[in-house]
Amino acid sequence: MAEKFITELKRTHTCGELTLADEGKQVVLMGWAMRRRDHGGLIFIDLRDRAGLTQVVFNPEHTGGGHEVAHQIRSEYCLALRGLVRRRPEGQDNEKIATGRIEVFVEDFEILNPSKTPPFMLEEWTLVNENTRLRYRYLDIRRPEVFANLLLRHRCTQAARGYLNAQGFLEVETPMLTRSTPEGARDFLVPSRLARGSFYALPQSPQLFKQLLMVGGVERYYQVARCFRDEDLRADRQPEFTQVDLEMSFVDEEDVMGLTEGLVQAIVASAGKEMTLPVPRLTWAQAMNRFGLDAPDLRFGLELTEVADLVGDAEFKLFREAVAKGLMVKAINGKGMAGLSRKDLDDLTSFVAGYGAKGLAWVKIKEGMEWQSPIAKFFSAGHQGRINERLGAAEGDILFFGADAPRVVWESLGRLRLELARRFELTKDKPLTFCWVTDFPLLDYDLEAKRFVAMHHPFTAPKPEDVDLLDSEPLKTRARAYDIVLNGSEIGGGSIRIHRQDLQAKLFDTLKITREEAQNKFGFLLEALTFGAPPHGGLALGFDRLVAILAGEPSIREVIAFPKTQKGACLLTEAPGLVDPGQLLELGLRVERVS
Ligand code: AMO
Ligand code: AMP
Repeated sequence: MAEKFITELKRTHTCGELTLADEGKQVVLMGWAMRRRDHGGLIFIDLRDRAGLTQVVFNPEHTGGGHEVAHQIRSEYCLALRGLVRRRPEGQDNEKIATGRIEVFVEDFEILNPSKTPPFMLEEWTLVNENTRLRYRYLDIRRPEVFANLLLRHRCTQAARGYLNAQGFLEVETPMLTRSTPEGARDFLVPSRLARGSFYALPQSPQLFKQLLMVGGVERYYQVARCFRDEDLRADRQPEFTQVDLEMSFVDEEDVMGLTEGLVQAIVASAGKEMTLPVPRLTWAQAMNRFGLDAPDLRFGLELTEVADLVGDAEFKLFREAVAKGLMVKAINGKGMAGLSRKDLDDLTSFVAGYGAKGLAWVKIKEGMEWQSPIAKFFSAGHQGRINERLGAAEGDILFFGADAPRVVWESLGRLRLELARRFELTKDKPLTFCWVTDFPLLDYDLEAKRFVAMHHPFTAPKPEDVDLLDSEPLKTRARAYDIVLNGSEIGGGSIRIHRQDLQAKLFDTLKITREEAQNKFGFLLEALTFGAPPHGGLALGFDRLVAILAGEPSIREVIAFPKTQKGACLLTEAPGLVDPGQLLELGLRVERVS
């Protein structure tokens, strides 16, 4: 093939830019064939490149002998053409696209590369299952929607870099082949050939290295960092994901949070959206008590309300006993949701059961504030009145109750709250809603392992006024940690770190990490802390999550060029895959077949 178009005729315009102002111009376009209409004589094709679509017309009288070839053009053929821009005939305008008032009358063209019949028509992508899209991701990426997400992500990355550069941060790369880091997930291991039987771990985050950079006097570090975590995957979790990771020296919480607000605002602005500052703050205790979850969605009400003090002396045994046992009883007022059917209520009961709730008592508020519910008879008029008042109940509302240990009530009613918002579309058209959650407990108790674990990571500093609690009531110790939440999704988290070796050793004791184990795993960090480590702290944004929300996408897979499935597979490259026996031999590994 001559390939005249590449060697002689250069592309003059993109497929997204020609307008009536270009009428009469000779242009050269290159792109892919889409939506072909062959009228025997005239052939219309929408030519697509990353900038948009242009309608091109092949006419046997103009394209001459080439017209035979033009009949062969099919979807996703890669084309180059030269032609004349002209106004579309009367009534043929397409107002939906930028180039909708013109078309290009083809005078010469070349098929740069034919295409096999694509496994799905790009404009009909919603009809195919996601796995097909991921298997042929390079075709999927040709879709304008995917390209737009990549472009958005690119802009957000540049905005983050721009902001941090202006604030005096240094972008530093940290190793990928490293040792286990402490973010609480399973590690991905990489066997070493030179030290047979030894393994690198891929970093779960650059946490330890960024702290070492502070000890090294870098003062302000950032990195657009890839992190690797072998955990159960969900819509907002990938085994490898990206953080905008940062660390600062000689700072306190206010400095890091203030800096982060500016950073996120710059990213949000690059997506053409608005974020008002300052971001409201909740303590962890407030978040749990009002919303049941530590990443509260503040776009709607349906708050959890304490009612234990109102039901302790009611006839309803279940609540009375719960109160007597010191358990938690909370309620949500489903405003105007009394139309939920029996089936809906059964479904919601099973829904909360999935979060450990033993049931879901409910009360519909009827005319005259009358309670309609299987449990109404166990509540006196006085009880009903007091509960109505506390929950601000009105006709047409439905009240939901949860009685159990705090963990169960929080989780089940917290999830119920989100589920009701989903069913009643309460988040539709709401602006981006941010909040900070602060004052997290430093520790959590792992029931299975029967020991304390760090809620964030073991380098997070306790609040100075709480340090003594580490000995007396460890679970009451609060951390100098903060999470930033957007629309109910945790988009970032960080803390002020422990910068003194004595306090770090004390915390390891509380966590029942032996000196030996600590030395073995984090000895290098502990040692670094003994060389005049400065006070420091930082944060990492979950960049995929943030961009997905800005793109209005339900899954982070939509903003990652080559994402993995829920099972951690890359369908395009078929990773993970088997390896050559010779490679295993070199590494000194033997694979046991698991059927
Ligand atoms: P953390 O573990 O909270 O903190 O991670 C920071 C943010 O990363 C995002 N995130 C994920 N996104 C996609 N897929 C995943 N599997 C995944 N896991 C986490 C979340 C989260 O808020 N080193 C600390 C940061 C620090 O203390 O400075 C860290 O990694 O949005
Ligand atoms: P029962 O007396 O078991 O029939 O329960 C009466 C109502 O209370 C039902 O609607 C149950 O779903 C609900 N229920 C049962 N256990 C709980 C609980 N722990 N918290 C809230 N509601 C509950």
